[in-house]
Amino acid sequence: MEKIRIIEASKHIGEMVRIGGWISNKRSSGKIAFLQLRDGSAYFQGVVVKSEVEESIFDLAKSLTQESSVWVTGIIQEDTRSKFGYEIHVKEIEVIGESKDYPITPKEHGTEFLMDHRHLWLRSSKQHAIMQIRNEVIRATYEFFNNEGFLKVDPPILTGNAAEDTTELFHTQYFEYDAFLSQSGQLYMEAAAMALGKVFSFGPTFRAEKSKTRRHLIEFWMIEPEMAFMDQNESLEIQEKYVAYLVQNVLDNCDMALDILERDKELLKKYTTLPYPRISYDEAVDLLQNNDFDIEWGEDFGSPQETFIANQYDQPVFILNYPKAIKPFYMKPHPDRDDVVLCADMIAPEGYGEIIGGSQREDDYEALQTQLEKHGLDIKDYDWYLDLRRYGSVPHSGFGLGLERTITWLSGTEHIREAIPFPRLLNRIYP
Ligand code: 4AD
Ligand code: MG
Repeated sequence: MEKIRIIEASKHIGEMVRIGGWISNKRSSGKIAFLQLRDGSAYFQGVVVKSEVEESIFDLAKSLTQESSVWVTGIIQEDTRSKFGYEIHVKEIEVIGESKDYPITPKEHGTEFLMDHRHLWLRSSKQHAIMQIRNEVIRATYEFFNNEGFLKVDPPILTGNAAEDTTELFHTQYFEYDAFLSQSGQLYMEAAAMALGKVFSFGPTFRAEKSKTRRHLIEFWMIEPEMAFMDQNESLEIQEKYVAYLVQNVLDNCDMALDILERDKELLKKYTTLPYPRISYDEAVDLLQNNDFDIEWGEDFGSPQETFIANQYDQPVFILNYPKAIKPFYMKPHPDRDDVVLCADMIAPEGYGEIIGGSQREDDYEALQTQLEKHGLDIKDYDWYLDLRRYGSVPHSGFGLGLERTITWLSGTEHIREAIPFPRLLNRIYP
């Protein structure tokens, strides 16, 4: 007899099959028992009819407890009443591992309780759906950059210098040297772009930020493309094409997951329309000031401001050319204005905030050296990075997309902690 996964049920209608799974829920009466089965690939129903099975099997079905693991043998049939479309008519059940007093019951639980049980919470259908979207975003990312001729490059995680901001570094000891966990692979990706032209990375990054918001993780994953011979405008075109591709692939390949999450698909479809709107930082400040926000030119946007700007559009929006003073040392100043830099943040719709930060990089040796000094960074730590401007410097641009921010947005989830299997948050490193 063939062992199948639930997701393959449509190919086995009328066949007797064996499935290994867990009991996620159960209902029974005197004559029939309905087992909600999950096996990691999908959820569906097992029907046990008293008159069709041995008495011991029916009694066993009625006694099964939540999250017990079982081998189930039965015949796959169509089930027009369920969205999944199939069920299994159970003939035999074998308990593999019993589960007693499973802590996460179908009733409501508080967030801290669920976070303490994250290792079990992952089994719930909503978390399963979010993890499927995460997988799809990662899969589509590799596909997109492959199609566009980028090479995947892996920057190091242990680094000797700050990539973004020295206040958010995780310090560690690297034998006799000081080392830091990577905040961003960008500087190494710039070196890779000078070797390989168009590159992208996908890896974990760490920010020792004391932020406790629904958008911040301490450990998060970032996709960082870097492109030689490309200016900021060309980079924006890649960015919007990439994000629209992610949205389209999630729509195409995660239909069930979007249903479980009750995500509005018509809204998502709008995000595949290109180009995305572009507004300058200056215009954004004017817009906010005209709408009674208390903000001065030169200040960074907080989340209420970002949300207000995003709400003016039906698509993600780029905010261009932020003040130099609030951006990192490596951004190239605007050719006509020294007070702003050639950069953009992409702000997701519906209040999900910044999903991409990117810029054209300073490619002039002297200018970069001056910027490093102004930011109080030690030139000798960045000597290798300056080499990229000593030996055949070229205009180049890149960006970083926050994986979990993007998943939170696409899945319509309230808080970023659900977009990663085991979130690292302020005051939480368990489980
Ligand atoms: O804007 P950020 O800090 O940009 C960089 O790190 C650049 N070096 C990227 C590059 O140009 N190669 O971070 C990029 C993105 C943000 O737009 C956001 O989506 C995400 O990373 N991000 C976070 N996600 C979750 N938790 C945090 N604490 C995050 N900080 C940034
Ligand atoms: Mg940013």
